[in-house]
Amino acid sequence: MRSPIAAAAVAWFRDHGRDLPWRATRDPYRIWVSEIMLQQTQVATVIPYYARFLERFPDVRTLAEASEDEVFRYWAGLGYYRRARQLHAAANCVVQQHGGQFPKDLEAMLSLPGVGRYTACAILSFAYDLNHGIVEANTQRLYARLLYWKEPLQATKSQNALWEFAEGLVPENGKGAGQINQAVMEIGSQICTPNQPHCDRCPLLPFCPTSAKGHFDRIPVPKPPKKITELREAAVLIEHAGRWLMRRCQVGERWAGLWDFPRFDITDCDSEAAVRKVLTNAVFERFQQHIDVGNSRHSLKHAVTRYRITLQCYDANLKIPTRRTASTNIVSQGGDVQWCDLAHMEDLALSASGKRVLRWLKKRTHSTTD
Ligand code: ADE
Repeated sequence: MRSPIAAAAVAWFRDHGRDLPWRATRDPYRIWVSEIMLQQTQVATVIPYYARFLERFPDVRTLAEASEDEVFRYWAGLGYYRRARQLHAAANCVVQQHGGQFPKDLEAMLSLPGVGRYTACAILSFAYDLNHGIVEANTQRLYARLLYWKEPLQATKSQNALWEFAEGLVPENGKGAGQINQAVMEIGSQICTPNQPHCDRCPLLPFCPTSAKGHFDRIPVPKPPKKITELREAAVLIEHAGRWLMRRCQVGERWAGLWDFPRFDITDCDSEAAVRKVLTNAVFERFQQHIDVGNSRHSLKHAVTRYRITLQCYDANLKIPTRRTASTNIVSQGGDVQWCDLAHMEDLALSASGKRVLRWLKKRTHSTTD
């Protein structure tokens, strides 16, 4: 191995690396699924989902042939559902454009939905030992400390330097690239932690100027704090004959593909009357239904990316003209709107906050009917 850093990392990894399910395979499909799941989710959370997912979708053809709804059901709970949609779309690309075989070149890999440079290089090195380095959150912290890199990591100049460092760790012929990359990622996540790195156990200590100076609070340069935006939203619980109006979020919306109670932004409403007006108009515009909006009986807080959202739940009923029954046959926008009773709502892939609303609604419904 040409790089002494890579050699020390791999020697350590052989004794100390964790046995993770995706490390026991060279199957690019299984590696790809793990990498997509791990993009925004912790290892311990991913493990049981990964096993269930692969049991149902053991290969790329099975995944491509499944409906998006079913893929969502196996993803439900992992969050960031865009990943599930892209996984399904990428499976179709692999089958249709690559005959069911994962491509072996970077360009083709990068053209798959949801596959960025890190994911592509991880799959190509882990599965095929191709000579690609990797840079993701853990490795970039480790490399920045090994380089004593004093610029903010988001800068293009920094990213170029980190990728160049990563490429320098793997030999040109790719031999052992997968192990090298797994090893540095493991050191980044288990040893070179953000706040109190375990330098006493680090196999790369002799190569680390940051540890020598004790500067791990300065390197990498801390990110400026995220600007948080407060939003107020309303979930409108429109009930008719024991069923509630549910809608699937559309592409471009926050929870595209997932089901939710109709939800609208009310940040700019400065009174309850203003809220009622906004909700009445918005529901009519979206569903062509006249509603009476009742009181807000429940509110919950949740955070999505840089938004802190207060979600208020409003009861609502259909406004039914005298001697007519409500038309609950809402024009179903491609099966994306439905009336649903509480028991069947469990079967919908709901957004995380939608699930919380459902839990509350069930509790309330049961306590009033007991
Ligand atoms: N995070 C992202 N990819 C990973 C992997 N292959 N092993 C452990 N953690 C990871």
